[in-house]
Amino acid sequence: MKMNDFKLEVYFGKHEFSAPYLLTQSDCQSMSVKELLKLAGESEEGLLDNWLGYTEVPGGIELRQEIAGLYDSIGPDAILAHSGAQEAIFNFMNVMLDRGDHVITMFPTYQSLFEVADAIGCEVDRWHLIQAENQWTIDIDHLKKLIKPNTRLICINTPNNPTGYTLTNEQMNEIAELADREGIYIFSDEVYKGIELDGIERKWFADLYDKAVSLGVMSKAYGLAGLRIGWIATKDKSIIEKMTKFKHYTTICNSSTSEYLATVALKNGKKILDRNLSMIEKNLEISDLFFEKYRNLFQYNRPMCGPIAFHRLKSDISINEFCNQMVEERGILLLPAEIYSYEGNYFRMGYGRLDFENSLERFEEYLISKKIA
Ligand SMILES: Cc1ncc(COP(=O)(O)O)c(C=O)c1O
Repeated sequence: MKMNDFKLEVYFGKHEFSAPYLLTQSDCQSMSVKELLKLAGESEEGLLDNWLGYTEVPGGIELRQEIAGLYDSIGPDAILAHSGAQEAIFNFMNVMLDRGDHVITMFPTYQSLFEVADAIGCEVDRWHLIQAENQWTIDIDHLKKLIKPNTRLICINTPNNPTGYTLTNEQMNEIAELADREGIYIFSDEVYKGIELDGIERKWFADLYDKAVSLGVMSKAYGLAGLRIGWIATKDKSIIEKMTKFKHYTTICNSSTSEYLATVALKNGKKILDRNLSMIEKNLEISDLFFEKYRNLFQYNRPMCGPIAFHRLKSDISINEFCNQMVEERGILLLPAEIYSYEGNYFRMGYGRLDFENSLERFEEYLISKKIA
């Protein structure tokens, strides 16, 4: 299978570990092992006693029990752990899709959610999010129209990367009912779930529909990307079986230390999510003032959930050149729409980092120095 470059990773490969002002990151502020153990009230002994052998292919039972606890109707046997979310996307598409299958993908979205299906030889249609007044929205009638007799999969990303748009529970139910009527699978990438800004907790698709697969991860809402622990949840046993056999060829199993620390983190999940939510809320208050001040220069699309948003520069300047020049000259990192193969002068901004205010100040200085603001 030939894959196109993963544009976001190529761009991050150049700048993520050298640019000092990361204003686009999608993961929440991380922490050290020491900080995690302290937050959890755990001694270091447990970690030091961690056995460095192979782990169970589906993930250790303690980890899967903690993950299953996030769902209403999912048990540990309906969970399959992976190395991050990326491995799970790749493996799912490979076991569930064949050349010629029709796939509908929410768009814009994380590249692998359409790229892997495309590389398999599927026919991929995009279900576009719509720009409304200072927010993003969806049109379920458009989704209905995209369905064909050979539609095998609807690929959802809620909360959405890059827009921060989040389906309501009612919309999720409507999409699940639609897929059920047509016998279509749903793969729902829900890696930003857990930091809803409207205070309304969203369901997981795997709880709503038997042919749905929900994707979760420790990287984003929990800010623990270095653990590389992700998972899928589904009531469809045959998907778990097929993906387990495929995983034998990818990573076999997770790192035992990562599984141990992910279990500790999930036992204290609420504390971590509350910490990250309040950081995002604080950063958004600063962002609200900034974009109000520069409302003639930007279209501000406040996110509904999670640490990212997709705003628009209202200018003739190409957003690609703008972002490239800014990172090269001042080390301020934003992601231009081109990374998402998306047209228009949009860019992704991240709200999950402690130094957001400082990075935004550097951004403002840059705009003033270039006489853009
Ligand atoms: C929507 C979405 N899905 C999956 C991933 C991959 O997550 P991970 O890096 O934990 O594998 C990302 C990472 O940015 C993402 O934004």
